[in-house]
Amino acid sequence: MTEERIEAMLAELSPAEKAGQLTQYFYFKLPGEVDPALGVDAGEQPRAVEAALGRGGVGSLLFVADPAETNRLQRLAIEGNPHGIPVLFGFDVIHGLRTIFPVPIAMAASWDPETIERGQAVAAREARAVGIHWTFAPMVDIARDPRWGRIIEGAGEDPFLGAAVAAAQVRGFQGGGIIAGPKHFAGYGASLGGRDYDEANISEYELWNTYLPPFRAAVEAGAGNIMTAYMDLNGVPASGSHWLLTKVLRDTWGFTGFVVSDANAVKSLETHGFAADPADAGARGVLAGVDLEMAVSEPAYDHLPGVPEAADAIDASVRRILAAKLRLGVLDEPYVDEDRAREILADPQHRAVAREAARRSAVLLRNEGDVLPLDAAALGSIAVLGPLADSRRDTIGPWVFDFDLDETVTVLDGIRRAAGDGVRVEYAQGIPVTQRVFPSMFDMFGGNRPADPDGFDPALELASAVDLAAASDVAIVVLGEYQNMIGESASRSSLELPGAQLELLQAVAATGTPTVLLVMNGRPLDLRWAAGHVPAILDVWYPGSQGGNAVADLLFGAAAPGGKLPFTWPRTAGQIPMFYGHTRSHEPQNQYRRYWDEESTPLFPFGHGLTYSTFEYANLSVSAGSAGVDDEVTVSVDVTNTGGREAPEVVQLYLHQRHGRASRPVRELKGFTRVVLAAGETRRVTFTVGPEQRRYWHAAVRDWVLDATTFDVWAGGSSTAELTTTFEVR
Ligand code: GLC
Repeated sequence: MTEERIEAMLAELSPAEKAGQLTQYFYFKLPGEVDPALGVDAGEQPRAVEAALGRGGVGSLLFVADPAETNRLQRLAIEGNPHGIPVLFGFDVIHGLRTIFPVPIAMAASWDPETIERGQAVAAREARAVGIHWTFAPMVDIARDPRWGRIIEGAGEDPFLGAAVAAAQVRGFQGGGIIAGPKHFAGYGASLGGRDYDEANISEYELWNTYLPPFRAAVEAGAGNIMTAYMDLNGVPASGSHWLLTKVLRDTWGFTGFVVSDANAVKSLETHGFAADPADAGARGVLAGVDLEMAVSEPAYDHLPGVPEAADAIDASVRRILAAKLRLGVLDEPYVDEDRAREILADPQHRAVAREAARRSAVLLRNEGDVLPLDAAALGSIAVLGPLADSRRDTIGPWVFDFDLDETVTVLDGIRRAAGDGVRVEYAQGIPVTQRVFPSMFDMFGGNRPADPDGFDPALELASAVDLAAASDVAIVVLGEYQNMIGESASRSSLELPGAQLELLQAVAATGTPTVLLVMNGRPLDLRWAAGHVPAILDVWYPGSQGGNAVADLLFGAAAPGGKLPFTWPRTAGQIPMFYGHTRSHEPQNQYRRYWDEESTPLFPFGHGLTYSTFEYANLSVSAGSAGVDDEVTVSVDVTNTGGREAPEVVQLYLHQRHGRASRPVRELKGFTRVVLAAGETRRVTFTVGPEQRRYWHAAVRDWVLDATTFDVWAGGSSTAELTTTFEVR
């Protein structure tokens, strides 16, 4: 039935209409300005797209989130082509559409696949309600260079955590009724120097063992789409790589969905010096395996009718696009109910899910003397300081477009609510709102940062903030990066706190008032001074629409933080790249003095995160002291909450292969589970360790291998876990 219907539609299409089905246009309704970053004329571009809709030249649109608009454009599409084929609407629903969730790196920090799945299901429900059929997410690029701004969009440095998070997001999105589009295939996070879009040169050893596993997990979870990457991978543009898009994705992994290019990435095959001209770019894109071209204007696929040698590839691509429309039900129900959309976007249950996700994402980096949780009953006054504390736009982070700033709860809002009437909560900005250090390509979507108040005097403002801190029982300082300092086209050469933030923190700490630092970020920042002088540091990331409420829940103890770092936190940018899963190499005893001018250890290790209680690990055991190379063993450990209150813990399992046909990492995450234990409670946690967890891709053998060897096993609450045992594989 499905195949027959698709074949019948395909048979009716002219070469130009087939090219149209393989073309996806941005549809911009900008506030009338021409944006140089995109070279888009606010009037001309939408008109050109509507003309293309009218001649059956469009298969998909992106950047429309209003139900009335999706219905209007859908009607243009259906009435515009004689076959009445509707368009697919895609959008960047990265961490929420109207209800904004914590940024993806924050959700990864929850190490809680169920919460991640639940959050993306909410996002999918809101997206489908307004007529969006497909999200360009999850971003599953492994990132080991935090200078790269897009680290915020993924799940950090580790392939095992990255794979679990990727699969959970795909389940969430597709369970919620939209296609998930894992991106950017592949290796984008290894861009040279962390510079966005620059080339990535990755050995096959690293590709197969580190960068590809999250994509494979997403494909195995049933992702319906994959998006290509912008940069050159080992000398070939990822968006023109037949090896990546056909040999790996389809022939090796059996992917049956459709592939979309990143924005203009097919046209830019010419920019790369790979294609000779736009027609060549179009031919090589579709022959490599790019089914759908995402373009702002003048698509390369307009040239496809003139490429007869690509006719079979074009038909195969059109079949995949039509199959996606059929499977989603778009062919039979192309329009949405606008009233129903409004109801769904306003569902208070969505806010509750976002608040819980933000609670579970925060990472307690330091809590000397148990400064946290605060006891509101014992406090008379709280000083809340720093521009990020009261910035709705920054609280929801980058990669959001359909947000409602009026309903966004800032950290200041949340503290005021939770502290209650008996506590005086006062706010001071303290420092200038650091002017944007560059024109961000996303500023055109609104949310530009408010300017400093008229007559703002930095010295006076700093002094009044310090006076407020000195006169308060506790000072809560919110520092980090403004939301447009991270994300796409927002890489940095340093990790320092931008502007005068450190100066503010040092002045506040010098008053002697107990100080709590809240970090609003998406990458690790240089907290060397804070880690030695500020007793409590809680990483709240960009916590989303309900962020202020979630942060207050954690500050006052209504919930205990349980997040764990999804990346290694360097002391300084000079240590980059730095990740826990490195090999032992020569003279490991010097591991701590690899530099003469700085420690060689991270400021905080991968998997680190504290809570309001303590945990002990004991009785680590393996079901068999020796196992065959293809056998599974189970590893069990007792976890006890040895503190005074219920708290969450992420139990982590790490392996190390002592010898074999390759040097293997000193530790690799191979299991984790989040538990919540009452005070005094002990739980025995069990992991399965089989060939899948022990195998690795060997550079010389050029295939997956399993060694007969001895494995070290660790279990604990971070990558520095000490409880260990071993087992043999013969
Ligand atoms: C952007 C990004 C990609 C996004 C696409 C559509 O340039 O690279 O992640 O999904 O274009 O906005």
